[in-house]
Amino acid sequence: MSLRLGDIAPDFTADTTTGRIQFHEWLGNGWGVLFSHPKDFTPVCTTELGQVARLKPEFDRRGVKVIGLSVDSVESHHRWEGDIAETQGCAVNFPMIGDPDRAVATLYDMIHPNANDTLTVRSVFVIGPDKKVKLMLTYPASTGRNFDELLRVIDSLQLTANHKVATPANWKSGEEVIIVPALSDAEAAVLFPGGWKPVKPYLRLVPQPGK
Ligand code: BEZ
Repeated sequence: MSLRLGDIAPDFTADTTTGRIQFHEWLGNGWGVLFSHPKDFTPVCTTELGQVARLKPEFDRRGVKVIGLSVDSVESHHRWEGDIAETQGCAVNFPMIGDPDRAVATLYDMIHPNANDTLTVRSVFVIGPDKKVKLMLTYPASTGRNFDELLRVIDSLQLTANHKVATPANWKSGEEVIIVPALSDAEAAVLFPGGWKPVKPYLRLVPQPGK
């Protein structure tokens, strides 16, 4: 059965461009992003890896480790990295899993045979410190992902993991958030002594906690 939100992210051992890893051990006690690429030496993937390398300080700031995967070998990844540094103005600064036998791709259901029976789709898994899957995204090979959106979702995940709030449509860090409906007004008054904006009894807005 395929993975679902809240499942434990499957553990695995794999060769990467920075050496052999045991995934859970590599994650440690922090957050992680595992994302797949259909194939090495392909144009959209080249731009994506350059973009993630550029955004690495933003992932670091949030305590999030990033790891990529494609179904080619680590040797191939190393050769490809030269092209990425040359064309994207930023060298790859995170590990890339080599998965020529598609063991990890299969474990994470990254191959969708009706899209392509050998290459992975563009999958993203955000994994929490409890090793549970917090977010899954699936894009087709022809569409490069928006990694600013990934950072935005991570901001929401990290906020809602620590406070009894949810984030509204198109929310960005610093904007108002929603008190979770499970909290009664009496309970909310304790957690949010400054009060809230009662748009509806079920839509209660407060400033973002900690800002
Ligand atoms: C790409 O990364 O450009 C790509 C990979 C597989 C199929 C189509 C595009």
